[in-house]
Amino acid sequence: MKVSVKSKDKIISIETKSSSILTTLAQHSLFVSAYCSGRGLCGKCKIRYLSSPPIPSKKEESILSDGELKNGFRLACLHKFKENDYIEIFETKPVFSEDSGVVCAEDNGSYIAVDIGTTTISASLIKDKKQIKTIRMLNPQVVFGGDVMTRIAKREKNSQQVLTLILNKAVKDTTEKLISASREKKTKEIIVCANPTMLSYFLGIDTKPIGEYPYTPPFKGAKKTKWNGFDIYIPPVISAFIGSDITTGLINLDISDNFLFIDIGTNCEFVLKRNDNFYAASIPGGPALEGVGIDFGMTAQEGAIDKVEFDKTLKCRTIGNKKPEGITGSGLISAIAFLNRFEIIDKSGRIKEAWEVEDIPFNLLSRIKKDGFLLENGIYITQNSIREFQLVKGALNAGIDILLQKTGSKINNIEKIYISGGFTKSLTKQDIIYSNLLNIDKEFVFLGNSALKGALKLFCKKNRAYLEEVAKKIEYIEIANQSNFQELYIKYMDFI
Ligand code: FES
Repeated sequence: MKVSVKSKDKIISIETKSSSILTTLAQHSLFVSAYCSGRGLCGKCKIRYLSSPPIPSKKEESILSDGELKNGFRLACLHKFKENDYIEIFETKPVFSEDSGVVCAEDNGSYIAVDIGTTTISASLIKDKKQIKTIRMLNPQVVFGGDVMTRIAKREKNSQQVLTLILNKAVKDTTEKLISASREKKTKEIIVCANPTMLSYFLGIDTKPIGEYPYTPPFKGAKKTKWNGFDIYIPPVISAFIGSDITTGLINLDISDNFLFIDIGTNCEFVLKRNDNFYAASIPGGPALEGVGIDFGMTAQEGAIDKVEFDKTLKCRTIGNKKPEGITGSGLISAIAFLNRFEIIDKSGRIKEAWEVEDIPFNLLSRIKKDGFLLENGIYITQNSIREFQLVKGALNAGIDILLQKTGSKINNIEKIYISGGFTKSLTKQDIIYSNLLNIDKEFVFLGNSALKGALKLFCKKNRAYLEEVAKKIEYIEIANQSNFQELYIKYMDFI
């Protein structure tokens, strides 16, 4: 069938078979925000029908305003194209920021560091040994599923090829935007950090061996290659689930201590250092802490609530001090920490009825509504969002327990816990403890996006050689298929 899509000033004609609008758009490299991977929860994949709109679904009636529905707005993930449909889309814009990380480079040339996350792609331009600009965008693959296993499972039906194409286009767009911001003609090298699945898509390698036993990565160790005419360096890959994003993060740490490094993302990875031994493990966590798959979720960008505080009254801080538009991962953790601290949720994570809550100010009680706990105008922490958070916390804590057991380690012998993940920048120890994200009380060091930060330090030979040596010592430990995993996972979903 033929359909037309308007994006800004261009009108694109598309020939498509009947499929979800969201998928069709992605297949044609047209990206709208799809924070909940097409589950009809986030309300961010808005499109407008310029031809006659379909009848809105119940979900749309609850998410979109009457004015929007009347004006032909619908959610792309909830509809299929019909012959001659004509829609307008609002493509996702990358977000720029000025960061100032520590750089190690051989010379003053222009370099790029890229971190391809399952949910977010970030890239930084380095020039004159300084980090000049950073760009972040939602990984457009999210419309094919929030986690790597769902995407790998879709590799039949040509999806492997489509996923490879859209990821490459996104990385190309991102790097081109940075290059145009640099006056340097030639970018000397690009470092690519990513999990092995994203690396496979990036390099056009079949992802099947990662998704099936014995779970084989596309390659092991570091790799130099070419991509779009650029020299590429990929830091060491350890296993099918421990990629160059994790090993790169280790360059930021003081490895003289015994430590536990946790990278919290859609997949959670651990590196445990005990004496001279390094062990790595991974566990699927879910995308909630990246602001994906939760109600009112969004990635860390202007308008996202990233902190909830209480001082006589509830205050929600947003990134850039902008009007609140949604909740990002750190906002979700601090909101849940607050709800647990004031016992507005019970042990199972259920939001209590107002009459069940004792000894809290009326201005908090009145925020308990049928849709959840009201943070800001129309933005709620819903029961669904708390459940999604519980999945991450269950997986994380069960994963740590099993990793410690299997390596004969004790939590008491660990000096520091490093927490990595883009959303961790604004977290505090209190957020972690009160939200029960980790049921451990230790010295926490919050690293932010440690992959991107680490990559900035790998444009010099000495750090690169050092990291490659450390990576050789890392032993991968399988934890997700342990017989007691489920039992621990369920136990840690509860709040204490
Ligand atoms: S992707 Fe459509 S509502 Fe989230």
